[in-house]
Amino acid sequence: MPSLPGFRDFYPADCAFRNALFSTWRATAQRYGFVEYDGPPLEELELYTKKSGEEIVGQLYHFVDKGERAVAMRSEMTPTLARMVAAAHRDYKKPIKWFSIPQVFRYERMQRGRLREHFQLNCDLIGEASLEADVELISLCIDTLRSFGLTDKDFVIRLSDRQFWVDFLKSKNIPEDQWYGVFQAIDKFDRQPREKTAELLGPLADEVFNILDHGAASERLDTVENGLKARGLGDYYKRDFTIVRGLAYYTGVVFEAFDRSGEFRAIAGGGRYDNLLKNLGGVDLPALGFGMGDVVLGEILKKKELLKPATASIQAYVVVPDETYRAEAAGILQKLRDAGIAADMPLSPTKIGKQFQSAEERGATHAVVVDAEIKNGTVAVKTLADRKQVAIALDQLIPTLKG
Ligand code: HAM
Repeated sequence: MPSLPGFRDFYPADCAFRNALFSTWRATAQRYGFVEYDGPPLEELELYTKKSGEEIVGQLYHFVDKGERAVAMRSEMTPTLARMVAAAHRDYKKPIKWFSIPQVFRYERMQRGRLREHFQLNCDLIGEASLEADVELISLCIDTLRSFGLTDKDFVIRLSDRQFWVDFLKSKNIPEDQWYGVFQAIDKFDRQPREKTAELLGPLADEVFNILDHGAASERLDTVENGLKARGLGDYYKRDFTIVRGLAYYTGVVFEAFDRSGEFRAIAGGGRYDNLLKNLGGVDLPALGFGMGDVVLGEILKKKELLKPATASIQAYVVVPDETYRAEAAGILQKLRDAGIAADMPLSPTKIGKQFQSAEERGATHAVVVDAEIKNGTVAVKTLADRKQVAIALDQLIPTLKG
């Protein structure tokens, strides 16, 4: 039986790839002074229905549990983070700089780069209203991608200002319940025929097209762009007012990372959400963050051959040519493992040639042959690269292998 559509099996090579990806994510976030946290994969349904917006609520995996609670599997981390910080913010110095790598679940229409589960690096900065925080966070997003060896030739951050659009809609007296439809039309501007967008925008169409075609003034974006330039990251962004973000809670500068080839969906997305903690937890703290999934990034790294993790291997293989000495061999195996040496041996009688073959296939550097010589306190150690074999006293085995 295969896995459910949109859910992945991680065979060892896939796990090795995933671990290497996570360790680069962790190292970069830590380099920026972010510390790791985690939360539960199942939350009250209400946490999402309250503030994340129609798009994500329609994609929730939700059910009523045996205690009659309406629950949902997390579709993103931001509501959990907002809930956690609102409850415990007094215990932490501001700004809070936290990261997490949750697996999240969305019942999405399946397409390239979009599955029904993915892992998502989340980096969030809470308690800092200054635009320097936006610069810091966007720099982290850029540097996370650079840490994999990607350059400004490979990806670009599309920067936008959601507040600009909110002010625009307010100035046109558009009621709040219609904003979502307008944002959707703007978001799909590049992907849908102009006439279709015009139809969706109605009387706003001309003005919106003018902004999308020619840009608009935004002091917020000027400041953020200057901040990125000051850090030497001026080649990594472009201003793009079509970015509005699907989630409802964003309030200020927003951004998405894309590959330059335009082949893939967004690599990452985020922005400011200054009202979410107040709305969810009654605590007025400014906040911003981004999420970067493992699916699109993984595809890009594979295509560019940038992340090639070595599969785990053992160092020593204990060869048992004569079953008479299996117990002694097992004792030696245990000693090697106690000393921190990754080691293995055959679990049932096996031809000696096959044992050496296993040793090589498993990546062992040494084979330790345990035969009658064990009665004299020695074993034969074979270096597999040059096939040289020497007799070693038992008490010298571990120093020899570690040396
Ligand atoms: P998002 O734009 O919904 O934002 O997701 C962020 C990233 O997660 C996307 O750019 C993409 O790489 C990946 N992603 C999203 N959906 C899928 C999917 N179905 N399959 C594979 N990858 C996917 C958020 O989730 C916000 N909560 C991010 C955030 C954190 N904002 C502030 N802090």
